[in-house]
Amino acid sequence: MKHSKNPIPGFLHNFEQYGDTYRAYLGGIQPMLVTKDPDIVRHVLQKNHRNYIKTPMIFEKLRRFLGNGLLTSEGPYWLQQRRLIQPGFHKQRLQALVEIMNQVIAETEPKGLVQAGESQAVDVYPMMMRLAFDLVTRSLFSTAVSAEKLELLSHSLTTIQAFLVQQIRQPYLNPWFKISGQLSKHIKLGKAADEILLKMIRNRRSSGASQEDLLQMLLDARYEDTGEGMTDQQLLEETNILITAGHETSANALSWIFYLLAKHPAKQALLRTELQEVLGTTQPTFAHLPRLRYTTQVIEEAMRLYPPAWVTDRQSAKADEIKGHQIPEGTMVVLAIYALHHDPKFWDKPEAFQPERFAPETRKQRISNYSYLPFGGGPRLCIGNSFAMMEMQLVLVHYLRKYRIELATEKSPELLPLVTLRPKNGVSIFFEEIA
Ligand code: HEM
Repeated sequence: MKHSKNPIPGFLHNFEQYGDTYRAYLGGIQPMLVTKDPDIVRHVLQKNHRNYIKTPMIFEKLRRFLGNGLLTSEGPYWLQQRRLIQPGFHKQRLQALVEIMNQVIAETEPKGLVQAGESQAVDVYPMMMRLAFDLVTRSLFSTAVSAEKLELLSHSLTTIQAFLVQQIRQPYLNPWFKISGQLSKHIKLGKAADEILLKMIRNRRSSGASQEDLLQMLLDARYEDTGEGMTDQQLLEETNILITAGHETSANALSWIFYLLAKHPAKQALLRTELQEVLGTTQPTFAHLPRLRYTTQVIEEAMRLYPPAWVTDRQSAKADEIKGHQIPEGTMVVLAIYALHHDPKFWDKPEAFQPERFAPETRKQRISNYSYLPFGGGPRLCIGNSFAMMEMQLVLVHYLRKYRIELATEKSPELLPLVTLRPKNGVSIFFEEIA
């Protein structure tokens, strides 16, 4: 299997040939068990999760750049941090962010989508990357972050992420990265981003002013045993992780949602009818969101077809056995989320875009049986899932109420599965203003 190219067709082919679970070797040496069996997925993520750590080969690299935050930490430290931070991401607590999000979406809506009555073809991918980045950073820091700082942060973090992908996908280049100075260049870039974040954290702490944002929640959180809060270094690591984990994923989901809605005008019309009925022309509030049922189904179905986290993996700490498969210590278990989401055993006409599948009667069962896991599962389930659902709903409200969208090209976007699943050459869309 070539991992520097799109590996999805290879996975699908292997599943067809060898069944729902097969063995392989990454780079010819690292033993892997690749699976799209929901029972095995549940075993690894939930039932016996203590035995399955985040694959060190990958996570050591991430830790080097992003620090030891929720996504990258393990064991007792991870649990302590998760317990501390989890309440801040509770649905009710996120209420305060609706106003910030509405503001960011309105402010960052690009000009020129329609010029002199003519709609312009726009690639929504970079647009959504920027929007999702602004949404998470402004939710963290409110207005304390200037446009200039945002630009610098965005540049540093996206450059570092691209470099990390290269390091993981093409490990044979690592010695070259060291010699050529690429590694130290990226470490420097990371330090510059850290400086910006640290300054904002210290300013907030010393100002004593309280804001209704995620940074405030992180600052106010207290460990149960000591009653102390996090240090500046811990806050830096957690904010770094939240920005990184929380923008490319949402941007990809949004780009694919725009693509699917543009491709399916009848579904787009249904969604718009719902927006009209629930909201009319009023500004969306937290109370409106649960009533946007069809909009939620559209988001869920889009993440089934194009899961931003298309694969995840763990490594066994000790030997284990799952459904007759022997798992020696140190085996990498690859959970093929994309393949699971397209498996005809669980999904009728799996390639069709049918938001109706996620009607409330069937939705619960799909999630509880581990055949649908865009946000992962078990104790390490995405902490930002409600945040992400909320921001995606709000983006759809603001854009779809104002514009009818249409594909600018007949060609479907190719899959580009890096850390997250991207549309390879973006998604070109016409925006037509609704009178
Ligand atoms: C559509 C958007 C998103 C998707 C599809 C997504 C998906 C995921 C998945 C699949 C995991 C689990 C990975 C694993 O177990 O290996 C995860 C973890 C995580 N996500 Fe998200 N995510 C999204 C948005 C966000 C947002 C907006 C934030 C923060 C604001 C966020 C923060 C995190 C963090 C911190 C973790 C690690 C949690 C832990 O290990 O305790 N994510 N995400």
